Amino acid sequence: MTAAPVSIDDIDLGSLSFWGRPHPERLAAFERLRQIERPMYFGEPRVPGLRSGKGFYALVRHREITEALRNPGVFSSYPSVSIPPPPFWAKYIFGNSMVNLDDPQHGRLRRIIARAFTPRMLDKSEQDVTANVNRIIDGVVAAGPGGDFITQIANPIAAGVICDIVGVPEEHRGLVIERVHTWADYTGVRPGFLSSLRLAAKNTMGLVGLRRMVIELGKERRKNPREDVISQLVTANIDGEKLTSMELGAFFTLLVTAGINTASNAMAHGLRLLTDHPDQRELLVNDFDKHIGTCIEEIVRYVTPGMRTGRTIKVEHEVGGQVLKPGDKVVLYFLSANRDDSVFVNPDAFDITRDPNPHVGFGAPGIHFCLGANLVRKELTVAFRELFRRLPDIHAIGEGRQLRSNFENGLTELRFGF
Ligand code: HEM
Repeated sequence: MTAAPVSIDDIDLGSLSFWGRPHPERLAAFERLRQIERPMYFGEPRVPGLRSGKGFYALVRHREITEALRNPGVFSSYPSVSIPPPPFWAKYIFGNSMVNLDDPQHGRLRRIIARAFTPRMLDKSEQDVTANVNRIIDGVVAAGPGGDFITQIANPIAAGVICDIVGVPEEHRGLVIERVHTWADYTGVRPGFLSSLRLAAKNTMGLVGLRRMVIELGKERRKNPREDVISQLVTANIDGEKLTSMELGAFFTLLVTAGINTASNAMAHGLRLLTDHPDQRELLVNDFDKHIGTCIEEIVRYVTPGMRTGRTIKVEHEVGGQVLKPGDKVVLYFLSANRDDSVFVNPDAFDITRDPNPHVGFGAPGIHFCLGANLVRKELTVAFRELFRRLPDIHAIGEGRQLRSNFENGLTELRFGF
């Protein structure tokens, strides 16, 4: 007997409405797409004021996605792929950050920027995160039982980590959080005509403002270096390598956009999952040190805070019977690879002891593998340790409000109690 053909007529990954569906429905759609050998082609949404994209191929299986990540000579990060495409002027204003470059340019930037993520820096950041988390918990306790976990806890922790690392002064931090949120609203699914233009303008001004702020800090640190990342990046190392002002601006924009919402969403979804799975939570709190490492990997797999990345084809290449031509755009759906049952046993089960857990949530095994992965592992460890220690009954209430986005698996609100 032959298997019934899979119907995918109702699935349009290029449409804005698909990404407005509840997450379980999005996952169910990817389960059907994974049954089709040939990568599917989708058109792109038309957004007023932007160039219309020419469409893209979707990679949805773990094997194809890891092969693409391992093969940057064919699957190039330059030019970057985003759906819908960015406005043409974006690159003139923001420059190219390393995530949108290939080697050797990417390798040079990664070498310089890796100075920010040495074990010594990570140890210092553990102390900062612990102090910051406890300050935030003090505020939560004083404010009374419960509220919104995203704005009161997850965002301030995640933004604090990045701002501490970079050396952003206290008075600018609220602004950083606000601007990253505008970015999330804009990047994920750009909505109707007027709101799209309004958000585009607000987003641009916000990011330009952030760049200006960090470039000014860089100038100051060149004159008076301190024990912070900006100082290390703008002063030369033994090989004479350092970042230019433009590169520093692009780096900072990448750090705040890559590092705040992803970490905050992992934390919030993590609390929700541990609330929904009391057996897993009990396992964790009964032997925190034993389970927290695999628990964090499972949260990143299960949630996949950054749901996709994109690549441009450089050299003709075949995937699943489909010939991809130079210039074709390909979107790699990490959220789908992370539920692929040819790799993960019982992929829809949230199992904090899952090991091995070869998820692609951090972009491994690609050369762009998340530079902040060890930092965020530390951040989530400290956050859950201190939250469960000081507020043992902390729990999520309900599922939270899902961000309408084709990029971030985010929550805009998650009520909590303790
Ligand atoms: C749970 C949280 C996080 C997730 C799920 C995540 C995910 C990812 C993914 C999937 C990539 C690869 C993108 C690609 O191949 O195109 C990436 C790259 C990157 N991430 Fe993260 N990230 C997280 C947190 C952070 C944090 C906290 C930072 C900074 C402190 C950070 C900094 C970066 C940077 C700089 C890159 C670019 C690396 C390169 O191009 O070589 N990320 N991240």
